Amino acid sequence: MSFLNQEEIQLTKEYTDSGYIIRDSAEISSIHYLRDIIVRAASKILNLEFPNNPELFLNTIHQKLAVKDLNSFRLSLIQSINEDSNFRFHYYQTAKPFLHTLVGNELSMQLRVNLSIQLPGDDSSLLPVHSDTWSGDSPYEVVVWIPLVDCYKTKAMYLLSPKNSQNLIDDFKNRAGQNSEELYQSISNEVEFLDIKYGQILVFDQGYPHGNRINEEQETRWSMNCRFKGVFTPYGDKKIGEFFEPITLRAQSRLGMNYKFPKSQ
Ligand SMILES: [Fe+2]
Repeated sequence: MSFLNQEEIQLTKEYTDSGYIIRDSAEISSIHYLRDIIVRAASKILNLEFPNNPELFLNTIHQKLAVKDLNSFRLSLIQSINEDSNFRFHYYQTAKPFLHTLVGNELSMQLRVNLSIQLPGDDSSLLPVHSDTWSGDSPYEVVVWIPLVDCYKTKAMYLLSPKNSQNLIDDFKNRAGQNSEELYQSISNEVEFLDIKYGQILVFDQGYPHGNRINEEQETRWSMNCRFKGVFTPYGDKKIGEFFEPITLRAQSRLGMNYKFPKSQ
């Protein structure tokens, strides 16, 4: 029994079958807002003018930045992101209708948005294959992943499909190997690198194995990620208040939480 409408059923099926959906942003002006904040902060750190072509600027940042400076550069940018009081609002706007269908309309959002930068050939900022749930995240969390440049092949992230994840989990003892690289090799023919363009958003289930490889393309990858979950769904290691905060609580939930029964004496 489901009272979802046709459009919701379609999105739900696609997400459940693939472990992700990619859609044009629900609010393209919000994506531009996010990119502008980052490009402005990046050009300031590098003592450059705001570029005429932000996409080219981001794609070729490796020509202006040494690998050794990458992490401090990235951390400064994350600080700028999180100092902007509208950043998370616009982040949410990009995915709002998809989150409402797949997760719910009373949402908790991660307090700090993350930024990843993968320079071509750089092996210092790789994310080995993992599921966030394996290290304590709640299986009720989704990740909204937003690229700031077009991502394809090894410039993109990869995800293992629900079907292949099930096969892996059923035979985990034999396939896990001694380390995460051996685990990756056991699924390397099955993972899908998720092609996604600037202006689109990805929502994926972080409970399926995912990660990235050395970016072997000629351009730098820039992407942001942030978790969302239903406010009243179970929390894992990432708690409400310290990691998540409710962003769309509804009237009766607020009233219910504050409800007091009459005193009997
Ligand atoms: Fe992850």
